[in-house]
Amino acid sequence: MDFTLTEEQLMIKDAARDFARNELLPGVIERDEKQEFPHEQVKMMGELGFLGMMVDPKYGGGGMDTVSYVLAMEEISKIDASASVVMSVNNSLVCWGIETFGSEEQKQKYLIPLAKGEVIGAFCLSEPEAGSDATSQRTTATDQGDHYLINGTKNWITNGNNASIYLVFAQTYPEKGTHGINVLIVEKGWDGFVVGTKENKLGIRGSDTHSLMFNDVKVPKENRIGEDGFGFSFAMKTLSGGRIGIASQALGIAAGAYELALKYSKERKTFGKEISQHQAIAFKLADMATDIEVARLLCLKAAWEKDQQKNYTLSSAMAKLYSAEMAMKTTIEAVQIHGGYGFVKEYHVERLMRDAKITQIYEGTSEIQKIVISRAILKE
Ligand code: CAA
Repeated sequence: MDFTLTEEQLMIKDAARDFARNELLPGVIERDEKQEFPHEQVKMMGELGFLGMMVDPKYGGGGMDTVSYVLAMEEISKIDASASVVMSVNNSLVCWGIETFGSEEQKQKYLIPLAKGEVIGAFCLSEPEAGSDATSQRTTATDQGDHYLINGTKNWITNGNNASIYLVFAQTYPEKGTHGINVLIVEKGWDGFVVGTKENKLGIRGSDTHSLMFNDVKVPKENRIGEDGFGFSFAMKTLSGGRIGIASQALGIAAGAYELALKYSKERKTFGKEISQHQAIAFKLADMATDIEVARLLCLKAAWEKDQQKNYTLSSAMAKLYSAEMAMKTTIEAVQIHGGYGFVKEYHVERLMRDAKITQIYEGTSEIQKIVISRAILKE
């Protein structure tokens, strides 16, 4: 087995690391504190090709593989998970979904600006009473002949206010259960579409998470993705790839915290020596480094399987479960190694610890990943 990265993959990793250090690091603490969306930085991410990395160049994308995407997500998440969630949702949920299942007209109209990062997208599945239980969609899309009318409320929507293009899931035939759900492309500003309250969050505070309200929003039939009733299948397939993105985000958050803890442990002295020379700290660092490497391998394996067109539902759920749990544990340890300094904002690790928490929750909680994993292994 060859673990060597190609020259192109290494270049992408370096470019992402440089961008994160030069453009995201300055101001990341202030954006977190003020809950400020990284407008300028997201614009730059679009220009650098980080928002449509895997999209075919004929639709404005970078034509890169999923392995490169994981490498870039890790580097950007080391510094700013609020920026990397914008990147993850745009790449793996919105662009991938439209490119894989959309019509040629939808690709021309919506995918090209999304892949170029001229606009960003949002994935609107969760509802007040349909989070983990995504099958319980209450939002409706009533068939009116040449268009649908959407009514309902969506919750916890990443890019909720700053997106221009929204993939909205809604029930058209409630009696058909998951086979009665459609996914429709909705543009910001359409009549009856209202962006609701912004959530005041524990972590990823620079990203904008909103509720969305739909009151008789008229959506032309040509904006439905796939066959009538394809929406739930679309959501599940798309989320399998999305989980690779969030797993890499968790990996990056953990690796960022670990790098800071390692550096600090070599500078800080107690009892006459650097704290890294105390076994209590050295063993923590050994555990952190090992756990991060395991997560990295799981993320890269899931990405490789996706690139090889293999089934990656199991590997992406494993990568997401392990990386998220590991990120929480590792960031807590990074704060501990910093002692009192870890508890204040200037040292970054408290933010990384707060940011880690969401990776155990969104795009399927850790418990949901265990459902996906156990079903897959029991089926084998
Ligand atoms: N690929 C294709 N089809 C799939 C699939 C997959 N990975 N997983 C399930 N399906 C299909 C099933 O085959 C089944 O089809 P049939 O009815 O034809 O047999 C159908 O979907 C229903 O599947 P289940 O019976 O397994 O459904 P379930 O009710 O037991 O739930 C679940 C399955 C895995 C728990 C699912 O509900 C789930 O993933 N929930 C979590 C939702 C989630 O991740 N939400 C995140 C929101 S998006 C977000 O967070 C983005 C953001 O902003 C950052």
